[in-house]
Amino acid sequence: MRIGVLTGGGDCPGLNAVIRAIVRKGLDTYEDELFGFRDGWRGVIENNCEELTYESIRGILPRGGTILRSSRTNPFKREDGLERVRATYADQQLDAVIAIGGEDTLGVASRLHAEGLPVVGVPKTIDNDLGATDVTFGFDTALHIATEAIDRLHTTAESHNRILVVEVMGRHAGWIALHSGIAGGADVILIPEVPFDIDEVCERIRRRHARGRYFSIVVASEGAVPRDGTMTEESGELDEFGHPRLVKRGIGQFLEHEIESRTGFETRATVLGHVQRGGTPTAFDRVLATRFGLKAIDAVHDGALGMMASLRGTAITLVPLADAVAQLHTVPVAEYASYGVLFG
Ligand code: F6P
Repeated sequence: MRIGVLTGGGDCPGLNAVIRAIVRKGLDTYEDELFGFRDGWRGVIENNCEELTYESIRGILPRGGTILRSSRTNPFKREDGLERVRATYADQQLDAVIAIGGEDTLGVASRLHAEGLPVVGVPKTIDNDLGATDVTFGFDTALHIATEAIDRLHTTAESHNRILVVEVMGRHAGWIALHSGIAGGADVILIPEVPFDIDEVCERIRRRHARGRYFSIVVASEGAVPRDGTMTEESGELDEFGHPRLVKRGIGQFLEHEIESRTGFETRATVLGHVQRGGTPTAFDRVLATRFGLKAIDAVHDGALGMMASLRGTAITLVPLADAVAQLHTVPVAEYASYGVLFG
């Protein structure tokens, strides 16, 4: 078979492990011809690909990032996008494309499948917010990086009697904040699923300090928001319709300012940012990514098109792409609440 492979969306540790597994099994077991498209769906639109050989995958298992590179290109946002994707399939005589991505990349895959194009998906994202799989690869690595950062911030917070705010990734789902916060013993954890009350946050910190503690750690997802929308303020500029332009401060910066001015405790914020996505994947992510890759290439040969490799319990299975992108996998409010006793 002739099979295309692409990686789309934000990069994520483990992408190369998936590519390697697909290529190894495709070449060894099925005698496929494999083609790596550059920069996600952009490579398919532009018919930009290279054959993937044993040489292409040598030494990539422990490497972060993606040898195919990535972009957030959506063919459906271009007038001729779908036609160009069809043209590439025809030109390269592709039997299928394996798309490795998150909600956006696999959302495109799902729509292409509905348009009759053969695709199979592999779920990636450090945010762990994709539906129809218990976990995505990349999450475990991001979690380890965030937890290590919290451990390090703990010792400096303690030395300086400070409140340290740690902003981690997660625009819509608080998995990284919740799990790294629990693993790192945070005193306050704020996630997008549960808008917070800044007075309550400050009160919790004051109570902790009244009990003799002199430092605190606050972990916040980048998508965490105050209940009353206080994070937005007017920039002083007007837009083309004369409406005031709003400034949205990063949550870390917002919390640093609010906590210090309300409690009087010296506060510093650290934004972990892309460091959470870079570097070598954990052993767990390498194994999960490898299992997903092997499942995806088997799915193509079994004719299981429009499906995505998924982890359910300890088993790798297949689920419809449409199910994976139907709803984001967010932190259940009850699960977040169950950790309440550990906060403050
Ligand atoms: O998609 C994962 C993610 O890392 C999010 O957690 C983060 O908000 C976003 O990507 C950042 O995207 P970019 O690298 O395009 O700024």
